[in-house]
Amino acid sequence: MEKLNKFTKFFRKIYYQTFVESFKGKLTYNFPQNYHRWDLIEYLIEKNNYSDYLEIGCDQDQLFSKIRINNKKGVDPVSGGNIRKTSDDFFQANDEMFDIIFIDGLHTYDQVKKDILNSVDCLKENGIILVHDCMPDSLSKQAVPRYRMIWNGDVWKAITDLRQKEDLEIFTCEMDQGIGVIKKNKNSSILNLNKPINNLKFRDYYTNYKEYLRVISLEEFKKIF
Ligand SMILES: C[S@@+](CC[C@H](N)C(=O)[O-])C[C@H]1O[C@@H](n2cnc3c(N)ncnc32)[C@H](O)[C@@H]1O
Repeated sequence: MEKLNKFTKFFRKIYYQTFVESFKGKLTYNFPQNYHRWDLIEYLIEKNNYSDYLEIGCDQDQLFSKIRINNKKGVDPVSGGNIRKTSDDFFQANDEMFDIIFIDGLHTYDQVKKDILNSVDCLKENGIILVHDCMPDSLSKQAVPRYRMIWNGDVWKAITDLRQKEDLEIFTCEMDQGIGVIKKNKNSSILNLNKPINNLKFRDYYTNYKEYLRVISLEEFKKIF
């Protein structure tokens, strides 16, 4: 994970709030306290009899070490997992197909969008892609470049952008920092944005996140998947 000294944090914060956006609103979410990303993944593996798991961004294997499945690959250029590469380098060389892919690498819009589209290309027909950190509660948690340690980045923008595509069915489950859920199915609720994706600010997310991300509860998730 990127190390930030206090000067970098300070200057990035001032830069962001002066030149990009300053907004004080804070969101409160209903994330279940006792149900985590590994519980959701275990649920999906058991329900669908999945055998091939890919994780992008593993850090200290907080998640990777808990996954029980026949075949698991964890990609991280720095630590954890079992493949020491960036996601771009991994996907360029990869010819394996996966049932379930958990994306949690670099939390910037461009990189997450690339990770999702590359994942779609190596996802089996009944497979599923999960994307961590889709629901920041404040401006500072989503600012890019990062200026605080607890950080979701602007992953929400990648989900919002791809919600406009006809061939991906996307929801976001309200749990564990917001988990994007993507299947290779026809989009049953195409998002119509009224401004270009690059002009969206946290203020827009704050007002429209339920529609942008197509937020569902864990109970709703389990009825659909
Ligand atoms: C938030 S941590 C992952 C946490 C872990 N998946 C979990 O569930 O607890 C993000 C990780 O992404 C890795 N990372 C950063 N850039 C990356 C890239 N381009 N490709 C793959 N991983 C990347 C970092 O090294 C870091 O370990």
